[in-house]
Parts: sequence; C-alpha cells; structure tokens
Amino acid sequence: MASHWEEFYKTHLPPTDFEDNRSLLKEFCERHNSTGERIALVTSGGTTVPLEHNTVRFVDNFSAGTRGAASAEYFLEQGYAVIFMHRTKSLEPFTRHFNGQKFMDMLELHDRGPNTTITVKPDSVDVLAPVLANYKAAQETGKILYVTFTTVSDYFWLLRAACECLGPLGPKALLYLAAAVSDFYIPSSELPTHKIQSSVGAPTISLQLVPKLLAPLVSLWVPQAFVVSFKLETDENILIAKARDSLNKYKHKLVVGNMLQTRRQKVVFVTPESSYEVLLSREQMINGMEIEDLIVSNVVISHSNFLASFKY
Ligand code: PMT
Repeated sequence: MASHWEEFYKTHLPPTDFEDNRSLLKEFCERHNSTGERIALVTSGGTTVPLEHNTVRFVDNFSAGTRGAASAEYFLEQGYAVIFMHRTKSLEPFTRHFNGQKFMDMLELHDRGPNTTITVKPDSVDVLAPVLANYKAAQETGKILYVTFTTVSDYFWLLRAACECLGPLGPKALLYLAAAVSDFYIPSSELPTHKIQSSVGAPTISLQLVPKLLAPLVSLWVPQAFVVSFKLETDENILIAKARDSLNKYKHKLVVGNMLQTRRQKVVFVTPESSYEVLLSREQMINGMEIEDLIVSNVVISHSNFLASFKY
C-alpha cells in the first residue's frame, strides 16, 4: 500500500515550472559537487493551501522568510553554495535589507531632463556597499540558486527534486528546513474548480493532515546528509519535548526550536545527546547582530564535526 506521502504525489500534479527548476537544481548540484564544495539547501517562508483550483482564496501562515533569507547569507559567508528554496514574494537574501521604502529613501534624484541621474545618498553608501558586494560575489561565482514555491504541493515537488540532486553529495549536503509548511490541506480531488461563490452561503471546509516529508527525506532521499529541521511553538512548556519527539521519530541530526514570540532573540538546539540555548546578548542586539549569524555558525560547526566523523 502506498504511504501517505506517496499518495500525496500521486494525487497532486507538479507545478508548471517544475522541469525547469529540476534542471537548474541538477546543474547547480553537479557543478558544486565536482569541486568538492558543501551545499546548503535552505527552505524559507510559508506554503499556501488553495481553496479552489483556479485559486482566488487560500490558507496561509505568518512566515515572512526572515530566518531563511538571513541564514542563506550567513551560509554563503561560511563558504557554502546555497539553494534558496523559498515562497514566492517572501524575503530574499540581500534585498531583504532594503525592503519597502528603505531602498527609495537611500537614493537621490538629480533631475536634469535628458541627463537625469540617480545616486546613492552619501550616508547610505556604507549600508548599501557591503550588501551589494556580497550580492555581486554570490551572483558572479554562481554560489546561489533561487527556486520558488507557493502552494504546499509545489513545495513537495521541489523538495523531493532538490533531494534527488543533493543525494550524490552524501554528508556534504546540509538541509536547513526553515520553511513553515502547512500542516493541513484540502486534497486536490475535493477542490472546486472555480471561485467559491458567497451567494451559496458560507462553505464548510474540511482539512486533512499533510504528510511530514521529514520521514522519506531522512530515510530514503538523502540518508547521508546533515539534516536540520525547525520546530515552532507558542507554548514554551512543550517546545523541547516536541523537538525531541521529532528527532526520535525521524532520526536526523538537529532540531532548532523557536517560540513565535521570541524567535528573533532566542532558539534552542536539540540534538540526540543534549539541548542548549543560542541567544543574542543585549549588546549584540544593540549592535544589530542577527540571531541567524549565531544559528548558522553553530550549525556549521556541527556539520563539520559530522563530516569529520563520517566514515566514507
Ligand atoms: O520566516 P520567519 O518569519 O523568519 O519565521 C521562521 C520560522 C519560525 C517559520 C522558522 O524558524 C521555523 O520554525 N520553521 C518551522 C516551523 C514548524 O514548526 O514546522 P513543523 O513543525 O510543521 O515542521 C517540522 C519540520 O519539518 C520543519 O523543519 C519543516 O520545514 C519540515 N516539514 C514540515 C511539514 C512537512 N509536510 N514537511 C516538512 O518537511
């Protein structure tokens, strides 16, 4: 009998850009594998659950993609090639620093008719220059690949394809699963084709459980990779226990636990042997340090130890 996750693939078609993304993933992984580099797959942002095939409405979640976008930059700094698999229109590495009006406010317009020019305000150069330099370096060296998903079904197809391409890297592949994946969905076969009409009254929507992909991912797709999952809770009393349950169930390397309310200042690392907090000090916060800098540094140390102990 097909398992829950296999059934999901059988009943949900791949996204229209799937083959293009699969080719990009394959080329990226082969190129970096051939030079012996480590690759980090960073998933980021929330998935949607459509309520109609021709989707006007959908169920979404809070995730902005800050964790994933910031972490991708720190992995690049640490020398990793990065697959940034993110929700369409969620935050992206580099551009995240200048979201909304911030970018416009950094520019000056010198309106001289046909000779109009735009310059960066002198006091913004120090802010923009290092980010721009890192962005250019990542682009020019081909160290980052951007792939996007919107629905939970897109995420499923893309994650499995990425794993297929990462498999040959063995323990050099690091999976950093920071995306907030929908836990409940409406099976494709139960979705109406067209926009639900309000004139027929309020619909009753029945949701089903989304299969957890950590199970096939760890045991079948990338069994040698270093897999880091995340666990978000709103009740501090259950966070570590839930993270430990996840480790026991899926047998991967590390769960990073975080609370919705304090996730920008504090996380807890839960490994099969221990649990410890990673948090920003007051001084680090005042200096503008980001917790993802600490999370990624700790993850990279664990990945290096894992690689050192790995028997080829
Ligand atoms: O984007 P931000 O606003 O910065 O917020 C970051 C975050 C809080 C979303 C992030 O730090 C985080 O905690 N993400 C995981 C949220 C969560 O609790 O996931 P989960 O318990 O549903 O899933 C556990 C793990 O399995 C996650 O790593 C998830 O990516 C993965 N998963 C989940 C469901 C599923 N069907 N397949 C999966 O692979």
